[in-house]
Parts: sequence; structure tokens; C-alpha cells
Amino acid sequence: MEKQRVLTGITTTGTPHLGNYVGAIRPAIAASEDEATESFFFLADYHALIKCSDPQLIRQSSKEIAATWLALGLNPEKAVFYRQSDIHEIPELTWVLCCNAAKGLMNRAHAYKAAVQANEEAGEDADYAITMGLFNYPVLMAADILMFNAHKVPVGRDQIQHLEMARDIAQRFNHNFEEIFTLPEAVIGEDVAILQGVDGRKMSKSYNNTIPLFLPEKALRKAINKIKTNLLEPGQPKNPDDSTVFQVWAAFASPRETARMRREFENGIAWGEAKKQLFELINSELAGPRETYTRLMEDPGHIESVLLRGADRAREHSARVMQRVRAAVGIAALR
Ligand code: TRP
Repeated sequence: MEKQRVLTGITTTGTPHLGNYVGAIRPAIAASEDEATESFFFLADYHALIKCSDPQLIRQSSKEIAATWLALGLNPEKAVFYRQSDIHEIPELTWVLCCNAAKGLMNRAHAYKAAVQANEEAGEDADYAITMGLFNYPVLMAADILMFNAHKVPVGRDQIQHLEMARDIAQRFNHNFEEIFTLPEAVIGEDVAILQGVDGRKMSKSYNNTIPLFLPEKALRKAINKIKTNLLEPGQPKNPDDSTVFQVWAAFASPRETARMRREFENGIAWGEAKKQLFELINSELAGPRETYTRLMEDPGHIESVLLRGADRAREHSARVMQRVRAAVGIAALR
């Protein structure tokens, strides 16, 4: 049977946080152990250029994200782990797909529409400060996915529309030229937690409420102590279901330990005590990977060689696909 191909990318514009770990990286690494799947994970550094013009930040983030996946146990011999910008066929395919993507479809992309709306509300020209990069974002993403004939693409809800666009673009190409592309499907992790941040909203870089994944121990303890709670005293019963401390606990603990903590809440555990236990739980899961992470961050040459080897493996696919695409559209040698 043909293996299910799973592919996902992370934009290299930030430091991985607990929410990325619980919601995306941990389940992706677990899934990559399954013999029935073939995983492709990559650093979306060309996507980073769309929202970040700080070269230093992009370099740093690429290093941190790569070190994170490796420190958490991704096996780069099993999964194909690479950097988007090492795969020259991706921007090449992006252009061909641009010539097959309806502009009207791209006009409807959420990120672009939101930028236009913000301009209109501010009384600016509709396209003020909007780049072609932002406008073409869904096409570059379609190229990432279609290049490797991915079946399943694990993403957050905000990316569902991009997957629909990738399918639409693939269908048009297949219809107009040749059946080259697999129609990909978005996979939304229903059973993985959307972690709450220290302020109780979804943990997200844009809310500035994250806890970075590999904070040193002391800083991690401090960050956990900052999680918002209410004023209930020790001994007063607390509602686990409206508590961020409990919600984060449940994302890390076994079902049994979660049930125990639920009882502790009902019995009025002190907030300080609950946070202390939460710190210990998270720290025990992350202490080992954190050590590996620190070591990797000091050895960028090793990370680089892993990425280059991943790029070689990825290009075995992309070079072949791109050759077929070129031939299909009429870009070919004359002899
Ligand atoms: N746009 C995605 C995000 O911001 C990242 C990404 C780029 C991606 N290319 C991809 C995700 C291809 C899945 C597949 O989350």
C-alpha cells in the first residue's frame, strides 16, 4: 500500500513556545514514528520573509526551530527534515502555479483581506504597504505541499483556507495539463490541545502571552508563576474547568494525573502549590530535551549538516516532480 504522506512547515519568525509544542510539534513527531506514514517537515523560511524584514531574527529563528525539532527527538533519517529555501524547485513551482492560480481566488485569502480592511478602516489606499509576497503567500504554500504530493497537512484552523486554495490550484493544473498533483487535505488536530497562554487566551506570539519551550529552569518557574489565576484562598474549592493552570496541566499529564489534579482543585489546592506541581511536571518532560537543545544551539554546523542531508533527500522528489511539471507546460529542451 502507498504510504500516507504527511507534510507540514513552520514559519521561521519566532521562538517555539509550549503551545507550538503541544499543538503541533509533539503530535507531528509522534505521528512520524508510524510506519504507515512518510513525514516531510520543513522550515518555511521563504514564508518568513513575508512578515519579517529582520535578517538576524530569521536566521536565529531558523536555528532555534531546527534545534527544537531535533532536541525533541525527531529522527531525521525517518522524516525528511529540510529548509524550504534549500529546495530550489519550490520557488520554480511557485511561478508555474502563479500562472494557474486565479487572482480572484487570491483576493479572497484571509490574510490579504484583513490587511486591505485594516487599510480601509485607517483611511489609507486599499493596498497600502501590502507586498506581492503577502498576496502570493497561498501560492508559495501550495507549491510547498504539491511539490511532495502530500496527502495530509496538519495545520491550525487559520490555515484551512490555504489548503482549499492548494487543492483548487492543483485541480486546475491537473485539468489543464497533466495529472501530476495529489489533492491534499488539511488535518486539524481535534484531540490535541490548543494551549492557553499566561493571560488565559490562546497561547500565541501575537498575544505576547507565550511561555518559550526551552526557557532555563528558573525562568520557566517564573513564567509558570505568572499564569493568571483568581483570588481564591488555599482550602477554597477551585473550578478546574476555568483555570489555565489546570488546562496546561492536562496538556502534559497522563489522564490519571489529570484526574488527581481535578480532585486537588475541588479540595482547594493553593494556587502556589498547583503551580509548583505544574512546573515540576513540565520541567520533567522538558529537562532532557532542553539539554540537547542547548548543545545543538552551540553546534550550528551539526544542525546545518542535518538540514543539508534533508534537502538532498527532499530534492530527490522535487527535482523529478519539477521536471514533469516543466515538460507538461512546454518548458523543455528543443531536441
Ligand atoms: N503558513 C503556515 C503557517 O503560518 C506555514 C507553512 C508554510 C505551511 N508552508 C506550509 C504549513 C505548507 C503546512 C504546509 O502556519
